Amino acid sequence: MKTILVTGSNGLLGQKITSAVLAGRQFNLIATSKGLNRFKPETGYQYESMDILDPANVRAVVEKYRPDAVIHTAALTNVDKCHEQRVLAFDLNVNAVQTLADICTEFGAQLIHLSTDFVFDGAAGPYDEEGVPNPLSYYGETKLKAEEVVQNAKCKWAIVRTIIVYGIVREKSRSNIVLWAKEALEKGEPINVVNDQWRMPTLAEDLAEGCLLIAEKEARGIYNISGDEMMSISELVAKVADFWQLDKTLIREISSASLNQAAKRPVKTGFILDKAVRDLGYRAHRFTEGLALLDSQLVQRELNN
Ligand SMILES: NC(=O)c1ccc[n+]([C@@H]2O[C@H](COP(=O)([O-])OP(=O)(O)OC[C@H]3O[C@@H](n4cnc5c(N)ncnc54)[C@H](OP(=O)(O)O)[C@@H]3O)[C@@H](O)[C@H]2O)c1
Repeated sequence: MKTILVTGSNGLLGQKITSAVLAGRQFNLIATSKGLNRFKPETGYQYESMDILDPANVRAVVEKYRPDAVIHTAALTNVDKCHEQRVLAFDLNVNAVQTLADICTEFGAQLIHLSTDFVFDGAAGPYDEEGVPNPLSYYGETKLKAEEVVQNAKCKWAIVRTIIVYGIVREKSRSNIVLWAKEALEKGEPINVVNDQWRMPTLAEDLAEGCLLIAEKEARGIYNISGDEMMSISELVAKVADFWQLDKTLIREISSASLNQAAKRPVKTGFILDKAVRDLGYRAHRFTEGLALLDSQLVQRELNN
């Protein structure tokens, strides 16, 4: 059985990879994140506290477990925070990737690195894996720089690009666009939503499966892994309202310009998924299937509380 080591296992994708292994995906899993493990249950895999900003710590953990693959999900993912805290963003999103690439090379592990649609400027979406990057934000710049680090590494590597990931994690504090919209509309709060940015939202379980397929098949190169339905952010939120039968009149459509955000976002991204379907057998759930899965998980979470 292959051994995989996941960084950022307390995060959305990290928790879904752990869940997939506990549900029967055949891997030895070493889950690592900064600080304590916040995922439950804590059996069926190993957990190690590992700070990706500490090369000696990373090296010691990789040396101990000798994984076949490292799935690198940890990052500073908040686009505005990256804009404001550039040193931290570069350290986490670029320097730590160099550390991992060096250590994967030393111990013969494949590096499976997570990247983003924000490496593109959004002028020509949907993109295939050969699309020409041109990031608009500092977050996108750091993620593109990290892609270059990975591509220049001497270890086996794969880069997984993805788009707006939605799903439920174990702690209620973590949100994403689907949960944010659902919770606000349930409380009867009006929400402002942009109608001039288009994306292909990704079910976190689909992304986890895409990463595991790459590890299983030792696939190399760049892979697009996302949902397969293009929609504007306002359409996405309207679908959320429709699914849970919430009041759509609370949704106020606005333009991106009116938000005046410091970090610019691409207009239309989206991915062509043919390579992942052909090479990996990847299949994205429909958006409403993803919402139905979330709904059942929310019911389960309430029952467990
Ligand atoms: N979510 C999206 O919409 C999206 C879209 C495109 C691409 N991506 C990419 O997909 C990947 C996974 O995203 P995600 O949504 O799962 O991210 P996430 O939920 O923010 O998880 C990232 C995890 O990294 C951990 N981390 C932060 N600093 C660390 C450090 N120094 N050492 C070890 N771990 C550290 C965080 O720990 P704490 O929880 O303790 O802070 C967090 O659990 C990222 O590379 C991201 O760039 C995500």
